[in-house]
Amino acid sequence: MAKIGITELILRDAHQSLFATRMRTEDMLPILDKMDRVGYWAVEMWGGATFDVPIRYLNQDPWDRLRSIKKAMPRTKLMMLLRAQNIVAYRNFPDDLVEKFVYYAHKNGIDVFRIFDALNDFRNMEVPMRSVKKTGAHCQASISYTISPVHTEQYFIDKMLKLQEMGTDSICIKDMAGMISPKRAYDIIKGYKEVGGKCPVELHAHSISGMTGMAYQRAAEAGVSVVDCDISPFSEGTGHPATESVVYAFKGTEWDTGLDMELLMELRDYFRTVFDKYRHLMRIEALRTDPSIVMHQIPGGMMSNLVSQLEMQKAKDRLDAVLKEVPKVRQELGYPPLVTPTSQVVGVQAVMNVLFGRYKNIPTETKDYVRGMYGLSPAPISDEIKELILGPDWRSQMVTGRPADSLKPEWEMRRRELLEMGLLRKEEDVLTYAIYPQIGLKFLKGEVIPEFTSESLPLPIEHKATRAFVRSFFPEVQDIYLSEKDPAQMVNDAIAAMPTQRSACFDGPQKLKVEIKGNTYDVTVYPPGTEGGMDIVRSPEQAVKRPPQGSGTVRKAETTSSAKGEKVMCPMQGTIYKVLVKEGDRVRKGQPLLVLEAMKMENEINSTRDGTVERILVGVGQEVGSGSVLAIIS
Ligand code: CO
Repeated sequence: MAKIGITELILRDAHQSLFATRMRTEDMLPILDKMDRVGYWAVEMWGGATFDVPIRYLNQDPWDRLRSIKKAMPRTKLMMLLRAQNIVAYRNFPDDLVEKFVYYAHKNGIDVFRIFDALNDFRNMEVPMRSVKKTGAHCQASISYTISPVHTEQYFIDKMLKLQEMGTDSICIKDMAGMISPKRAYDIIKGYKEVGGKCPVELHAHSISGMTGMAYQRAAEAGVSVVDCDISPFSEGTGHPATESVVYAFKGTEWDTGLDMELLMELRDYFRTVFDKYRHLMRIEALRTDPSIVMHQIPGGMMSNLVSQLEMQKAKDRLDAVLKEVPKVRQELGYPPLVTPTSQVVGVQAVMNVLFGRYKNIPTETKDYVRGMYGLSPAPISDEIKELILGPDWRSQMVTGRPADSLKPEWEMRRRELLEMGLLRKEEDVLTYAIYPQIGLKFLKGEVIPEFTSESLPLPIEHKATRAFVRSFFPEVQDIYLSEKDPAQMVNDAIAAMPTQRSACFDGPQKLKVEIKGNTYDVTVYPPGTEGGMDIVRSPEQAVKRPPQGSGTVRKAETTSSAKGEKVMCPMQGTIYKVLVKEGDRVRKGQPLLVLEAMKMENEINSTRDGTVERILVGVGQEVGSGSVLAIIS
């Protein structure tokens, strides 16, 4: 009997795909005893965003979650997704941190480490794999699946043989965008087995294309060992095939999973109530089947990022142009699979190319990618593109070895820092801090305020998150939910809808009259960099002071008219991330003055001429719009 195993994803990928990874530990614990009796091959419960989100938004310790799940599920193997040298974040970490992370993850309960690299550059997987083998845990190396002229069946089969040679215990075909067809699934798995492939193969595919159930069937026929599923309330769409459906479909066949349908029904009932509690996070797009993925290869998460980035830049009408630009950029960058972090690099570069001209604006992350700091691109990048992105001296900037080779050990340093701050309560905290220095520190200091707690769910209808949820289904009801209690928010929204007014006010305070639902508000909007923010007076009564966004301090209003010189304008909406020069500094044309964080990427803002920095009009953390004056150079 070629029984098939099931990996249940409800505690990680299911709610990461459908509910922004927000499920709290206390909503998992009550059902774990039953889950432990199902007989899953493994339960995936950690990794990916389940590290970042709990410390950032839930005020929950991911290490505590791991320990309490392990305690409640002693019989079931727990799986985590490890982003290879990126651990559970978005940049390469030094080897000592990778080793320590794997050691402590295993010590606290992880039995199966699924390791992947976005580019299938296995040099990034060597140290994580070796670290896992050292702990004695199960090492499951993955190949990131995508469609492109270089990603042929032979490409994947060769990659799988390579992983086998590297000593992996099993292999995962990771189809994060949900576009593997039944034929491809069959041909790759069968092809691998026919050329001497010995490792058990697990198929992880998201449901978006609508073909995934069929792909699981064909994978079974080709000899797959395990398939990945979500218990039904959190299944399909950007999630994965439903556990109960797959179990029932294989019932009575040679691939029978042997799992107990009655028990699965109890899990289903439980997670239906959880789904209802977290209703405010539901987005209809997350549940829609969308076969267009196989044509443009843009995963759902990336698509919604593109839309929100264009909205932020007030350029939503350019979406079609961006969707045409994405495949061009992807080809020029050597066909990276569109998964974190390369999806972000390709997506934002495509947006920039459409808004500002092709490769006129290039974020640091694109340059790093082209330099080889993420790993080798699947297809080579042409010298022409390298020169366009890195400049004429591109050859000297290329990273030739393993990307992490140039990184210095960090564990001792981070541990000492934490000790000196009096925040070292357990060794695992060093990793929380080292991987997420800013938010990790805030969390360890106890300064994170949870978005919601389990007891407060479901959120009441007037809560802003519930209102956003309702609006996503019924855009026309917007006004009904705009509470009279917060006129500042209403006025802010109204002004945001008046871009011309907003951009006109950068040389001095601007007075506006805003009418909302019969009430007139007198609003004074101050230029960014002076007072920022705005005064709102509801005529004729009460005044509401709205603090400037970002900086949190209110400075005295002043205009910039006294400063003579050339204005350095902000090209797009974003947040000031770094200020690199001081007033009075001599600068050269093209020298970076500031770093603007836009669309989660760093963009250098350069001086437009040789001269002296006369004024800097913005501070770190300040939000700025397209057309804001950032600095004046005389
Ligand atoms: Co996934």
